Amino acid sequence: MKAVILYDSKSSGGFTEAIIDSMGQQLAASGVYVEKAKCKAMADYSFVREFDIVILGAPVYYFLVSSQLLASLIQGNLKKNLKRKKVALFLTCSSPEAMAAVLYLPQLKIHLIRNRILAEKIIAPGADSGSDLIEEFVDNLLFEYEKTLKERFPSHAVEWTDDAQDLLQSIPSFMQGKFHTLAEEYAAEMGYREITVDVLMAAKGDMER
Ligand SMILES: Cc1cc2nc3c(=O)[nH]c(=O)nc-3n(C[C@H](O)[C@H](O)[C@H](O)COP(=O)(O)O)c2cc1C
Repeated sequence: MKAVILYDSKSSGGFTEAIIDSMGQQLAASGVYVEKAKCKAMADYSFVREFDIVILGAPVYYFLVSSQLLASLIQGNLKKNLKRKKVALFLTCSSPEAMAAVLYLPQLKIHLIRNRILAEKIIAPGADSGSDLIEEFVDNLLFEYEKTLKERFPSHAVEWTDDAQDLLQSIPSFMQGKFHTLAEEYAAEMGYREITVDVLMAAKGDMER
């Protein structure tokens, strides 16, 4: 399994980089091939397609997630290349966890609404970079990743809700077969056992992305 940590930080050798090194070591110890890359807004992110898991992380400066990571999602081609990728998120910041979860994590999550987020963590400076916190994050994301693999199942096993079936029936008949296949492929890829209206809409959005 291959993971890449995409990060940004304004300090070289700062807290975020220490966290990433520790995370990288723990992933490698679990048998994961891991690389890290510092974000540049306009970099070509097509390389992330090769990885099974993309971990995004950065510090918060003046209430904003560090700029090159955010700009890679907003202006660059990172979001496009994250299509159907399983991701994990972490932020380093000095705000209390509950506040960071409300103010800062959504700055990333709003760009990842169609991605499966395996794990997320707020890490305060002062936490020991080799601490249980990182181990817990890594264990959690590997556990969730394994779960998505087990959730892969033959498409005939996917259940359709009545609402989703009604919606499918409401579109022109010549398009129904295509949307049926698209939705089942999307559900299998994302590890959903049931196709709801929301999953159907997400599959449509995914196709248009
Ligand atoms: C200039 C500056 C601005 C910061 N602004 C915030 C902030 O708005 N909210 C917050 O929770 N933490 C803030 N912090 C704390 C950093 O997010 C935290 O120390 C982070 O771990 C720094 O990572 P780094 O060592 O990789 O730069 C700020 C730190 C600095 C140096």
